[in-house]
Amino acid sequence: MNSNNLDDINEMDETMDLPRVRHTPPSRKKSTHVLKKMTRSALTGWDSIAANIKNFTYQPSRHESEWLMSSLGEFYDQRWFEDILMMVKGGKEASVYLCRSSVQVGVPLIAAKVYRPRRFRNLKNDHIYREGRSQVETDGKIILDDGKLHAMAQKTRFGMELLHESWLGHEYKTMELLAKAGADIPRPYASGANAILMQYIGDEVAAAPTLNTISLSSTEARVLFERVVHNIDVCLKAGRIHADLSAYNILYWQGEISLIDFPQAIHPDENRNAYRIFQRDVLRVCEYFAGQGVHSDPLGLARQLWLAQGRRIAPEIDPLYLDPEKREDRRAWEKQGRS
Ligand SMILES: Nc1ncnc2c1ncn2[C@@H]1O[C@H](COP(=O)(O)OP(=O)(O)O)[C@@H](O)[C@H]1O
Ligand SMILES: [Mg+2]
Repeated sequence: MNSNNLDDINEMDETMDLPRVRHTPPSRKKSTHVLKKMTRSALTGWDSIAANIKNFTYQPSRHESEWLMSSLGEFYDQRWFEDILMMVKGGKEASVYLCRSSVQVGVPLIAAKVYRPRRFRNLKNDHIYREGRSQVETDGKIILDDGKLHAMAQKTRFGMELLHESWLGHEYKTMELLAKAGADIPRPYASGANAILMQYIGDEVAAAPTLNTISLSSTEARVLFERVVHNIDVCLKAGRIHADLSAYNILYWQGEISLIDFPQAIHPDENRNAYRIFQRDVLRVCEYFAGQGVHSDPLGLARQLWLAQGRRIAPEIDPLYLDPEKREDRRAWEKQGRS
């Protein structure tokens, strides 16, 4: 691969505008979602959290308080947690809180990732990441309803709400899948319309820092580099590419790493840009570790990991996704025949 291609990867978010493809055929596999048995009316839980929020250790501002009550009320009601101890990280798009869990949860602390209502509205070129992905509701069910799919395609207000929930549902399902596959990620516990509960990495005093803020000894850097590469491989085997992997989305705690932040994860065989997105992930990881004294060949490594699983570098597009009426799709088909 030459340097132009590398530039392409880095510029991808700014420049890509590919023809859309149809949805993957919906799978009817049952979801193991924690909240699947809940009725809609039980989902708010506003009253009980509203009565108790003033006693929480962490005291949110008034505006934040309403947002927290609507996003976390259902979990409070179900006794996932009894106190919010601190905000781990607040952002324009999502904030993560440390909560003290209720005894029956079995672990003392949990993390709640709460999304801003418009978290996914500004995601650049979101269709690149949504390609080949079924839209799921927050309870993990795949959206089959034509009206809903149309609303999402048209990005009506209702459609945007569904898209928001679908990104969140996708992040949660991805975490479930990767945890099962043995990846080093926080264990996902539950998800709602606007929040995900997961294993907290850190202790009561401080949350685990992200790797970009850490300087490693050369021995530890080598060990952790290999661990991250192992995780990239585990994810790929499980049919996922993180798609926003970098030292900013890797936590470091007591000599171990955890990958976080999965809403953009893609399937390696269902996205035409999969290999380039995969290369970008590998490249960003290698860049951080190069700064820690671990030198590697990022493109060679990406290639090796990809080919080791029997994938082609120019993955074929399933004819199911090609529309013979579209010139660019016909061209892709011809090109594929030649490769
Ligand atoms: N399970 C967790 N345990 C401890 N801290 C976490 C956890 N998940 C996220 N964080 C912290 O919250 C920040 C934001 O989370 P992240 O999932 O990366 O969302 P985003 O980058 O979209 O805001 C992370 O950089 C990290 O500092
Ligand atoms: Mg992040």
